[in-house]
Amino acid sequence: MADEQELGFETRAVHAGQEPDPATGAVIPPIYQTSTYAQTAVGETKGYEYSRTGNPTRAALEECVASLEGARRGFAFGSGMAAIATVALSVGPGEHVIIGDDVYGGTFRLFDKVLMPRGIGYSLTDLTDLEAIRRAIRPETRMIWIETPTNPTMKVIDVRAVCELAREHGLLTAVDNTFASPYLQQPLSLGADVVVHSATKYLGGHSDVVLGLAVTSNEELARDLAFNQNAVGAVPGPMDCFLVQRGIKTLSVRMREHSANAQRVAEFLESRPEVERVYYPGLPSSPYHELACRQMRLPGGMLSFDIRGGEETARRFVRSTRLFTLAESLGGVESLIEYPAAMTHASLAGSPIELSPSLIRLSVGIESAEDLLEDLDRAFAASR
Ligand SMILES: Cc1ncc(COP(=O)(O)O)c(C=O)c1O
Repeated sequence: MADEQELGFETRAVHAGQEPDPATGAVIPPIYQTSTYAQTAVGETKGYEYSRTGNPTRAALEECVASLEGARRGFAFGSGMAAIATVALSVGPGEHVIIGDDVYGGTFRLFDKVLMPRGIGYSLTDLTDLEAIRRAIRPETRMIWIETPTNPTMKVIDVRAVCELAREHGLLTAVDNTFASPYLQQPLSLGADVVVHSATKYLGGHSDVVLGLAVTSNEELARDLAFNQNAVGAVPGPMDCFLVQRGIKTLSVRMREHSANAQRVAEFLESRPEVERVYYPGLPSSPYHELACRQMRLPGGMLSFDIRGGEETARRFVRSTRLFTLAESLGGVESLIEYPAAMTHASLAGSPIELSPSLIRLSVGIESAEDLLEDLDRAFAASR
């Protein structure tokens, strides 16, 4: 599209990378379910030779997400973790990464159990504290790994400030933008070098696909990512790319509903005597409220809370909701509830990251807010 970045976010979500199919005029880019492409002579192709290297359905998605994040290049992977692992390959043995002390358990596991034994060091650091980041920087530090809002305690990291600090020290910055989605924040515009997504969550939006994405405008990183995407081969199939692309078309509409419902749920929880603390940047009581208002378009659909009564009550509560389904994952149109200490963040066991045993995480869906509040109200009664 000409002058694409001048178009609004919602327009790009529907049209970027989505030109009608040149062969048939199909308005929706076809699912090119093919592993290989006919060549007219040795090495003479129409731009595609083998689907690990490139596939038109995947290319359409990669172009769309790059546009939404304001990036030059996009890369799709078979899962969010495959995207994160492929980005992490830009760090070499002997080098070191500073990662947030509240990252997704799978990201911590990758650095701790897979990369560290292969010579890539890491430090867990509170990224809300710039002095702590300064102290963690070593001569061999290469990258700062940011997640914001964090999972599951919803800390908001000042991406612009961390990226400025990183640049002063010649470090790369990677931002996992899964919780916010590009509709709520675009880290490249705040100075980040690379953004990753578990598109399994808000980008797909319907809990029916596992896929990962990485975008960058840094030419060197883009070269590394293109090479490693093909060399490692952790790529998604065309059907999954199609599903995420379809989800993206309604991303802005869904994110507005997720945020509005989460705000209602957060305020409801904050008013309940059974709740000790609510973690949601949309609440004025959150220490991150002002930063979230500055950095994010809306506070998003994720929140956590500490229930009074400890682990037993928390476990009873998550079993007692009917609309909130007890399940891992997040970002789908349906509401989910989970117990991070034993579910999404179980891979933190034995790590210095400690999760409260009374913490419950909600992914607030786009159902009627009244029904969601009633469901929580019922669960409070059942878990007393
Ligand atoms: C913030 C975050 N990043 C990355 C991932 C990993 O994504 P995937 O499950 O698609 O591999 C998750 C999964 O829950 C996540 O919550």
